[in-house]
Amino acid sequence: MKPVRKAVFPVGGLGTRFLPATKAIPKEMLPVVDRPLIQYAVDEAREAGIEEMIFVTGRGKSAIEDHFDIAFELEKTMSERGKATDAIEGTRFAPGAVSYVRQQDPIGLGHAVWCARHIVGDEPFAIFLADELMIGQPGCMKQMVEAYEKTGGNIVCSYEVPADQTHKYGVIDPGSDDGRLVEVKGLVEKPEQGSAPSNLMIPGRYILQPDVMRVLEDQGRGAGNEIQLTDAMAQMIGKQPFHALRFTGDRFDCGSKAGFINAQIALALRHDDIADRVRAFIAEL
Ligand code: UTP
Repeated sequence: MKPVRKAVFPVGGLGTRFLPATKAIPKEMLPVVDRPLIQYAVDEAREAGIEEMIFVTGRGKSAIEDHFDIAFELEKTMSERGKATDAIEGTRFAPGAVSYVRQQDPIGLGHAVWCARHIVGDEPFAIFLADELMIGQPGCMKQMVEAYEKTGGNIVCSYEVPADQTHKYGVIDPGSDDGRLVEVKGLVEKPEQGSAPSNLMIPGRYILQPDVMRVLEDQGRGAGNEIQLTDAMAQMIGKQPFHALRFTGDRFDCGSKAGFINAQIALALRHDDIADRVRAFIAEL
């Protein structure tokens, strides 16, 4: 079984739910407390042992490239003034360990993933949707990689949501279930209300075999008239092992305003330097 060494970060979406904030900066650069969403996802990938990062970007996303590059003036000035640069550690990659691909036309997550096919090559790879902030001990992808080492094949993360929320997500049709690892019998993207096969949704973390790229090659448009990753993954079921791992930890849907605010509050309360002041302010409100 080949190890998971590469991660794809599709960051080509338009982020319309956060306009006007996302007019000139990508949604993935919105900060939660002190770091942008994309940094949390990259840190999670590193913790899982992933070495090579592939960003699928679009127009107006150059802030992401700058974030993960040398900030010469900033670093020079800080060191001249004797200021510690610990805060920007982790914002750089080893030379050659990062690639950027342009999606050009944001016609769906499946299409974004397919745009990375030449860099992914013939090995399993992870996908991270950075607007889903997953906080766990260990992190979400590490939990998934540990499961993958036992099952092989394809693994998606899964998370239980209330039944009236399933129509917003890719949802799992479950088979055998040991309480942690669930066999995936089917997948459906944005099922009509009341028709979802379960309340297990996929919160933006995947380990997939490279064969999905060949499926995506011919994938037509699905829900929302977009090329859907869920539809391509559904075609792999039965041909290769396919499991869902129930994530142990907290999930924040930072692609929605309410989820983003929840994340700010929850994570602020975990930062010792500000927690007391934030707690007092919430009580006062
Ligand atoms: P979303 O469904 O959240 O869409 O995409 P969006 O465009 O980012 O945001 P809204 O709905 O307009 O506010 C889920 C993930 O898929 C990526 C997004 O960047 C996000 O990580 N994506 C989506 C692409 O990379 N390309 C696409 O064409 C669509």
